[in-house]
Amino acid sequence: MAYLTFHSAGESHGCGCFAFVQGFPFGVPVGTAAIDRELARRQQGYGRGGRMKIETDKAEFLSGVRKGRTMGSPVVIAVRNKDSRLESAPELDCPRPGHADLAGHLKYDAPVRDILERASARETAARVACGALCRLLLKHFGIDVRSHVMAIGPVEVPGDFCPAFEDMVKADESQVRCLHKPSQKLMCEAIDQANAAGDTLGGVFEVVAQGVPIGLGDHTQWDRRLDGRIAQALMSIPAIKGVEVGPGFANARLRGSAVHDPITYAPVHAPTATGGFSRPSNHAGGLEGGITNGQPVVVRAAMKPISTLMTPLPSVNLHTGAPMAASVERSDCCAVPAAAVVAENFLVFMLAQALCEKFSGDSLQEKLLNYQVYREQISRVRRARPTEKAE
Ligand SMILES: Cc1cc2nc3c(=O)[nH]c(=O)nc-3n(C[C@H](O)[C@H](O)[C@H](O)COP(=O)(O)O)c2cc1C
Repeated sequence: MAYLTFHSAGESHGCGCFAFVQGFPFGVPVGTAAIDRELARRQQGYGRGGRMKIETDKAEFLSGVRKGRTMGSPVVIAVRNKDSRLESAPELDCPRPGHADLAGHLKYDAPVRDILERASARETAARVACGALCRLLLKHFGIDVRSHVMAIGPVEVPGDFCPAFEDMVKADESQVRCLHKPSQKLMCEAIDQANAAGDTLGGVFEVVAQGVPIGLGDHTQWDRRLDGRIAQALMSIPAIKGVEVGPGFANARLRGSAVHDPITYAPVHAPTATGGFSRPSNHAGGLEGGITNGQPVVVRAAMKPISTLMTPLPSVNLHTGAPMAASVERSDCCAVPAAAVVAENFLVFMLAQALCEKFSGDSLQEKLLNYQVYREQISRVRRARPTEKAE
């Protein structure tokens, strides 16, 4: 049973996107400025299309917040659309390859417009709003999440490029959110070339969570494993087609001795989130057996090239079956930097959900107390346990 849940509502050209967050604890100081900051980050990036020039996303609390702190009741956040023309938006006769257009049209027996309005990545504004809210909770537990872009189209950062967590804040200074300076220019050039050809690009990004305590997620049931839950969350972001925990695919080509992270221990004199246990490496990406192991949680995701091509691919007219070029909607050429921000905020939500399960309590204060007790428990100085005899 997940205590903290998120759902969204809204259409791309409806009145807005709405985040419904249930199970968020009482007493967390919140404000729209912190959410607006994350929404603005989602709107950035080299290669974005016209929509992002129209929208200036701003959050509005519709419920669950009073006097600048959460009430323990469901939090609803609205992000209004400026480009709101759902009733007058044109119908699409030729489904676009790579979109939900054809499958959704046939499955629902509905106009393509009714499908694409909800399938649109505009929905990710609601995910970011939810993640930004959860970030305000996680900071009380010392958890921070950052991201950076590793590849756009054919341009990749070198394999041994491994930025420090502290440096990842600088990703926002780059239009492609890449920390490897020589690659930044090449990525922009690759986007320009694809754009000029009416084509699009995808890429790869990494999201890292620091300060995550040992023990979030659970090994006892398949749907409690946090690695699987995070993979589903990231894979559900539009256009994400691959997820790995740590360097998962590279690990598969190595021997176990080169992959698994040795365990070290040094007694601690004050409670900590890792109880004195440490690892000199983090090839596991911070997750073993579906449980966080106290190392940073590291996940990477692959985004396919944007589906809408300005030089459209062959499709068919849905009324006549005649071959025709796919319909063209206003579109990004590359949205990898924005997708990294979406993933970052959605990982924040997944960690907040796991944290709320582990440290129960209706209020922030109660959760912090439970967290403190847990830190004391895992930080007790190790000694041999007396053998207990069964009665
Ligand atoms: C931040 C972000 C922005 C996106 N912008 C566009 C876009 O402008 N045009 C487009 O065709 N697809 C865009 N996409 C991807 C599509 O929404 C997605 O490919 C499509 O809905 C089909 O879903 P699927 O790729 O997950 O199968 C974007 C995705 C993200 C995460």
